[in-house]
Amino acid sequence: MNITEASGWLHKFRLLHGTSPQVYRAPGRVNLIGEHTDYNDGFVMPAAIEFYTWIAVAARDDRRLVVHSTNFPDSIEVDLETDEPSPRNHWTDYVVGVAVMLERAGHHLRGANLLVHGEVPIGAGLSSSAAIEVATGFALLGVSGLSMQRSDLAKLCQRAENEFVGARCGIMDQFISCCGRAGHALLLDCRTLDYRMLQLPEEVSLVICNTMVKHKIASGEYNARRAECEEGVLRLSRFLPNVRALRDVSLSDLERYAGSLPETIYRRCRHVVAENQRVTNAARSLERGDLTEFGKLMRASHLSLRDDFQVSCAELDLMVDLAGKLDGVFGARMTGGGFGGCTINLVRTETVPEFQRKVASGYEKATGLVPQIIVTPAAAGAGEVQK
Ligand code: GLA
Repeated sequence: MNITEASGWLHKFRLLHGTSPQVYRAPGRVNLIGEHTDYNDGFVMPAAIEFYTWIAVAARDDRRLVVHSTNFPDSIEVDLETDEPSPRNHWTDYVVGVAVMLERAGHHLRGANLLVHGEVPIGAGLSSSAAIEVATGFALLGVSGLSMQRSDLAKLCQRAENEFVGARCGIMDQFISCCGRAGHALLLDCRTLDYRMLQLPEEVSLVICNTMVKHKIASGEYNARRAECEEGVLRLSRFLPNVRALRDVSLSDLERYAGSLPETIYRRCRHVVAENQRVTNAARSLERGDLTEFGKLMRASHLSLRDDFQVSCAELDLMVDLAGKLDGVFGARMTGGGFGGCTINLVRTETVPEFQRKVASGYEKATGLVPQIIVTPAAAGAGEVQK
């Protein structure tokens, strides 16, 4: 949001509510490597991006939440004092879901007026939902004079999405939105929530290419993949009693018991097991400054998501292929849940303008769609914004 937009937004808040707000924001994310591993207790390596959900908030004297947005015309009012609100299949579920989970966890919230402004593209796989959840968490806690550990807030926001909104996502998106650090990617162990910050080298840029498509099957297929991973665990644990999640399976174990798995389940498991290994290797290569190796791992990740996990699509494959042909590109892969959305590209900074030109024109020529190409530094996690 630039200064003019921000002052218009704050002005709108004052017109609606007659008071000056506190301001909080939480970023979206892009995942460098480690896809569909978070809900298998595995490893991921996301970075926060400089696109945020902003929330202006001021306390009320009662226990009502009054929620408006600059992105959607409809608003909502709920009373935390009366019965627990239920989901309405509406954008405000993200806000109300976080409030409900905070109350259930014993945080007594004040009533508040909220004005949401989202700048993370919606439905592009850049976690606009985690951004609004985390921004809500910070805003409601802040206005109530409460606080929480960032990793606990991430878990609570994930619970809001799982149990209130009804999407079975893993922990990655909420965690990076809470815990991102400028200039760094975050290597997260999704079982223990231990993490390590990895500095991104200055000579490369994170370039995100939005295919501008989101296939309708995405959420159903996401849940289907989760179920297939769970079936893999169940079958493998008959031979390997210590296996609680695919995180506990090695490639050699998987190969040994491959014959006892249906072909599709075997392939899903192979993606997750190999992807975990790739994340660990990618972290090492980043720490050594070996971007060539890092890029190879990104490429292998994409192929595995395309062929074994089968969550890519023609537009994502095309975008990755276009990038792969250019000088200065270390690696390219789809990022996020799949079936549309974005690719992440690691590009030598001086070649970024050429990258943007060539990928945009190649993609438009082949599909008739104008892609959105975003260059972003790795951003800091959520927090209060001083005016
Ligand atoms: C979505 C989910 C994440 C993760 C990715 C796939 O973004 O919200 O939890 O599972 O898909 O890596």
